[in-house]
Amino acid sequence: MRWQTHFFDTVISTNQTAADFPVNSVIVANEQTGGKGRFGRTWYSPTGNLYLSAVVEDYGNATPRLAFVAGVAVAQALQDFDVRLKWPNDVLLQGGKLAGILLERTDDGRTIVGIGINVASCPTTGMIYPTASLNGRLTVPTVLNRVLTELDTLLTVFEAEGFAAIHPLWLRYAAGLGKSVTARLPDTTITGILKEFSPDGALVLETPDGTSHIITAGDILLGNNNDT
Ligand code: BTN
Repeated sequence: MRWQTHFFDTVISTNQTAADFPVNSVIVANEQTGGKGRFGRTWYSPTGNLYLSAVVEDYGNATPRLAFVAGVAVAQALQDFDVRLKWPNDVLLQGGKLAGILLERTDDGRTIVGIGINVASCPTTGMIYPTASLNGRLTVPTVLNRVLTELDTLLTVFEAEGFAAIHPLWLRYAAGLGKSVTARLPDTTITGILKEFSPDGALVLETPDGTSHIITAGDILLGNNNDT
């Protein structure tokens, strides 16, 4: 494997610590005091769950696709569970959010792939979406080892063949295809049938008037009341 892994007890955020490390480093912590989620949210980070940040190169325009690569790595690492991937980068178990992925780019051309997995516990109050955990059915070292193995293999595929080779793998786990979803965009929301997750990483939603909308950034809600 490509990874040099560095273990910490408590950090503010593994993504922040990882910014001081070279490509192919992985930062793992037992807990985070300032775990970060997308959209400036806080990531629930007590001891018992997995918090890791992998430092990889900048892949230019393809860099945002690393979120899908990481999602597939988590899904394959947790094959014993019925895990689904929700565009763009949530990992769901029984409709609740089990894991999240936060990509950050450094000024000097590295990308930090932060992955948090609720191995032991998940927040039960104060969340705007349902959550899930493995309830300790796997240990943190087991999940870490599996995720890093999958991520190493998938990155090698991504580097050699591009996102085209990752896209069908992501589709195996895709949540919501053919169903009604709502896309939350910066200035509007669109509800329609999720027709396609396209090979360039975008979503295609068809509204009742038959119009296709291509969504390249944002977040989606599955169904009517599932605010993951
Ligand atoms: C999200 O779904 O909002 C993304 C959550 C990402 C959480 C992980 S935990 C490890 C790494 N360090 C952080 O501060 N955030 C990511």
